[in-house]
Amino acid sequence: MTPDVLIAPSLLAADFSQLGDEVRAVAAAGADFIHLDVMDGHFVPNLSFGAPVIRSLRPHTGLPFDVHLMISPVDPYIDDFVEAGADMITIHPEAGPHAHRSLQRIRAAGLKAGIALNPGTGPECLASLADVLDLVLVMSVNPGFGGQGFLDSQCGKIAAVRELADRSGWPLQISVDGGITPETAPRAVAAGADILVAGTAVFGGGEREYAGRIRALRTG
Ligand code: DX5
Ligand code: ZN
Repeated sequence: MTPDVLIAPSLLAADFSQLGDEVRAVAAAGADFIHLDVMDGHFVPNLSFGAPVIRSLRPHTGLPFDVHLMISPVDPYIDDFVEAGADMITIHPEAGPHAHRSLQRIRAAGLKAGIALNPGTGPECLASLADVLDLVLVMSVNPGFGGQGFLDSQCGKIAAVRELADRSGWPLQISVDGGITPETAPRAVAAGADILVAGTAVFGGGEREYAGRIRALRTG
């Protein structure tokens, strides 16, 4: 049982023909955040949605919008997502030449700033970014698609980030993103995850199942 773990359903797995209804439904079902996967078909091999869609969804819930930017270059677009109503913006360190400045900019706008670590990216950059970082998003799949299998190899990285943050006294939240199911959730939490991002595991069975599926991720 890990009832205090926070759940961030990823809209990538929702019904794109009724995203407003989906946001309201998953919020009513007990979600803690709305995870919004922005993909540009360049940084990742898929296209999803941009700031205008996020702006249109903003009035439909008071839940924090957890915006995951899988785009490069990322700097020219940060302000658009701030204005669209993001509460947290997570970027990939490979998405621009100056990750520290990008995170400074997100923080300066009053939002929480996050770094996403791909499966092939180690936590070495975190020490240099700690002063402008609120969240580390450990990718447990290679980014670009929902419905992939959880990479157990990333549990070591989750634990390493947890240990580094605790030893250094950084007030970081650790989020894990990709392949999260009732079976893999306990492994991610045991390794140190505070937040679980889940698309398929939440949206897979239709609105009537959302609350039970979110509960299943908390109880594992
Ligand atoms: C992948 C995205 C994830 C993905 C999660 O690039 O960052 O948020 O949508 O989807 P599931 O939970 O289906 O693996
Ligand atoms: Zn994501």
